[in-house]
Amino acid sequence: MSEIFYSSSPEDTERIGSLFAKKAKSGSLVLLKGTLGAGKTVFAKGVAKELGINEGIVSPTFTLVQEYEGRMDMHHLDLYRISGCDEFESMGGEEFLYSSGITLIEWAEKIEEMLPEDAISVNIEILEDQRRKIQIEGLDESIGA
Ligand SMILES: Nc1ncnc2c1ncn2[C@@H]1O[C@H](COP(=O)(O)OP(=O)(O)OP(=O)(O)O)[C@@H](O)[C@H]1O
Ligand SMILES: [Mg+2]
Repeated sequence: MSEIFYSSSPEDTERIGSLFAKKAKSGSLVLLKGTLGAGKTVFAKGVAKELGINEGIVSPTFTLVQEYEGRMDMHHLDLYRISGCDEFESMGGEEFLYSSGITLIEWAEKIEEMLPEDAISVNIEILEDQRRKIQIEGLDESIGA
């Protein structure tokens, strides 16, 4: 299934992230796509909120992964600084592609060849003003926002 949503503010993008998390099953791998500042981390914050994770979500740019415990566990990866598959594997990243809970990856394009085919993609495009177009592909159920 493929659905498109329009966000008009960071709060709106968070809300869409929360609605998404309501429908996502444990074991979901979510590829967050979009340019710098598109709102990938903001979307992840909405996911965390719905999972009952109260810790502040910080961008995992320097740590590869941030792990949180909630209704389902959440793993948040940012591969911006990774060179490619070899480095990702040597850091032990592969286990996150197949773990339980929800795994969200920013800049997953860096490891394109390793990504399982059933991954969900969330593509965030910057429009004028504070607006964003958010296309979600590969989720079984409709989010119905
Ligand atoms: N509609 C919107 N949805 C999401 N973020 C928005 C929106 N409008 C403005 N913003 C702002 O855009 C920025 C998005 O930042 P965020 O860290 O989520 O981007 P990112 O896609 O994770 O970038 P990076 O690739 O650098 O990690 C925030 O400063 C946020 O306040
Ligand atoms: Mg980010």
